[in-house]
Amino acid sequence: MARKIIIDTDPGQDDAVALLLAMASPELEVLGITCVAGNVPLALTARNARIVCELAGRDDIPVFAGCDAPLQRRLVTAEHVHGRSGLDGITLPDPVMPLQDRHGVDFLIDTLRSEPAGTVTLVPIGPLTNIATAFRRAPDVVGRVKQVVMMGGAYFEVGNVTPSAEFNIFVDPEAAQVVFASGVDLVVLPLDLTHRALTSRAWVERMRVTGPVGRAVASWTDFFERYDQQKYGNAGAPLHDPCTIAWLLRPDLFDGRRINVEIETEGRFTTGMTVADWWGVTDRPANALFLRHVETEQLFDLIARRIASLDKAAAG
Ligand code: RIB
Ligand code: CA
Repeated sequence: MARKIIIDTDPGQDDAVALLLAMASPELEVLGITCVAGNVPLALTARNARIVCELAGRDDIPVFAGCDAPLQRRLVTAEHVHGRSGLDGITLPDPVMPLQDRHGVDFLIDTLRSEPAGTVTLVPIGPLTNIATAFRRAPDVVGRVKQVVMMGGAYFEVGNVTPSAEFNIFVDPEAAQVVFASGVDLVVLPLDLTHRALTSRAWVERMRVTGPVGRAVASWTDFFERYDQQKYGNAGAPLHDPCTIAWLLRPDLFDGRRINVEIETEGRFTTGMTVADWWGVTDRPANALFLRHVETEQLFDLIARRIASLDKAAAG
């Protein structure tokens, strides 16, 4: 039986690769995609998610627009990383598939209430605004969630949008605080891990020749990596968000520990920081499986093989 998931996303090139990996994996059943404002505004994330579904030949997956702004703060976006469209690197046709009428938060609540308790996994790979809004509006659904597997936060890597905060948490720290305090079974893939998930030139060229899907992934990576190369000086683009899907498929490739993680929401310099008690120096209860290591060679081989399968299927 395939594992039921809902991906909550702000595409973004790395989100797009995560969506493709999920759609290429029969172990997963994508019940729906809920979009949130993050890398780019909501209208674009909702557009981009549908572009990716159509690229993968999966216009059967319902796409919903969720929250267009954080719970209480002004939206901060990342066009400087992802380009004005959010999917810069290649021009793809506007989507034909419709956006669902229902709000993404309503879809989250309705699905968690209608599916058997403990069977739906939420995979947030953008700011946590939709998830937190659903938990606040319908507290009964929190206990019905199987697991939340998210990309966000950092420990040794500290921050990528400020010296102390990772983007997904920084955009909506109040939402992150709701999720981390909810008691849900939480798996966190932070920058400490995803900054090691760097594409190589050989991998990108391997993708480029598989067909239209692989070509798009290679083009997105070409665009996406320039920011990290200039900033960190290392070659390759960090495939942050696909690590969540890869963990669902091959948790054995990852390693970490259950620890306490609190979210700073008031710090003058540290708002959005994930205060990760990796060394257990407080008596605060563990609330997250915080992953720090991934076998990168096997990770990229998995992503390449699965995405190539989309091109193979399309070629018939
Ligand atoms: O900090 C990395 C995260 O922020 C990723 O989810 C990326 O897509 C951006 O949303
Ligand atoms: Ca993202």
